[in-house]
Amino acid sequence: MTVCVTVLLSLTIGGLAFAQASKRHEQAVQQKPFGTNDGRPVNLYTLTNANGVEVDTMNYGGIILSIRVPDRKGQFADIVLGHENLDGYIPNPPYIGAIVGRYANRIANGTFTLDGKTYTLPKNDGPNTLHGGTDKTFNKVVWDGEPLKGKAGVTYTYLSKDGDDGFPGNVKVRVTYTLTNDNELVIDYEATTDKATPINLSQHSYFNLAGQGTSDILNHELMLNADRFTPVDKNLIPTGELRPVKGTPLDFTTSTKVGARIDDTYDQMVLGHGYDHNWVITRKGDGLTLAARMYEPTSGRVLEVSTTQPGVQFYTGNFLDGTVTGKQGHVYKHRYGFCLETQHFPDSPNHPDFPSTVLKPGETFRSKTVFKFSTK
Ligand code: GLA
Repeated sequence: MTVCVTVLLSLTIGGLAFAQASKRHEQAVQQKPFGTNDGRPVNLYTLTNANGVEVDTMNYGGIILSIRVPDRKGQFADIVLGHENLDGYIPNPPYIGAIVGRYANRIANGTFTLDGKTYTLPKNDGPNTLHGGTDKTFNKVVWDGEPLKGKAGVTYTYLSKDGDDGFPGNVKVRVTYTLTNDNELVIDYEATTDKATPINLSQHSYFNLAGQGTSDILNHELMLNADRFTPVDKNLIPTGELRPVKGTPLDFTTSTKVGARIDDTYDQMVLGHGYDHNWVITRKGDGLTLAARMYEPTSGRVLEVSTTQPGVQFYTGNFLDGTVTGKQGHVYKHRYGFCLETQHFPDSPNHPDFPSTVLKPGETFRSKTVFKFSTK
């Protein structure tokens, strides 16, 4: 149950005193039935914090359907692409709002070798495996959902079976979304396995801080805390190089308009059809580190992304082409949303020099990503 209490705030600005009505909400999670998939019930969970920020998520694909946050004048808007009902997500070729795994991003030629054994995965992106394959990928299975007690949050768990989409080991995955009263959406990932397997988990929300479905994201301004990126070949597979961003259109070390250099003729921009690359987060140690700050000047909304992961894929919705119609009949056109997918580097199973993605029996994979919403 969400309880809203109207309070009066007295403000004194420049000698003028005036009162502003504002709503105080209880931090809570509400659950309601949202259909079925594969014979299993799907629930919608609405997380609400004390400031009235709301996040809708469901246990199908762990999908985030909407995030409603205020602009600098206190006007709320939904800032992620999505659909109003479950059917809209079946299928969901752009992975809108979903948890992606077992292996977020690409594995070259749909194959890798681990402990002397070669594994073959379904190819769904030219010669590559993208976001875990085709069959029981994390974005399109029904997870178990459990609302958190006394907090605006929900935990999803899923058992990915040995051999699913060609990957070894029974992998237990747990993803918790918690909405704090500091307007942060905290995502905690955990996984264990009974056989060594690569694992890479991410969240594939498409943001538009001006409000979803209304415009492209080219006037947003981005800062990325990254001095290097992993350049790609024509199949968007990392070449193995860690290249300095300095002097390239991928340099976002100081805040820069997303659209300023997106159609540059630099080879990486042509290969990516815009931005679709993994940046190497500049970090001291492996704790929670700011990866990205995105600002939208007309609304004043700011999204900060912090993570314990080594990389972040900044993707500008280059493959959105107007074929998907989402919430309120909005047509999702070219570059109408951006993703900041915190992750291990793409194709790490085939790059022994990259930070390892191998999870072994007895170990627990843990990572944390925080999306913090504010205005300026
Ligand atoms: C990731 C990839 C993109 C694209 C989207 C899904 O962000 O890097 O190339 O495949 O997922 O459309």
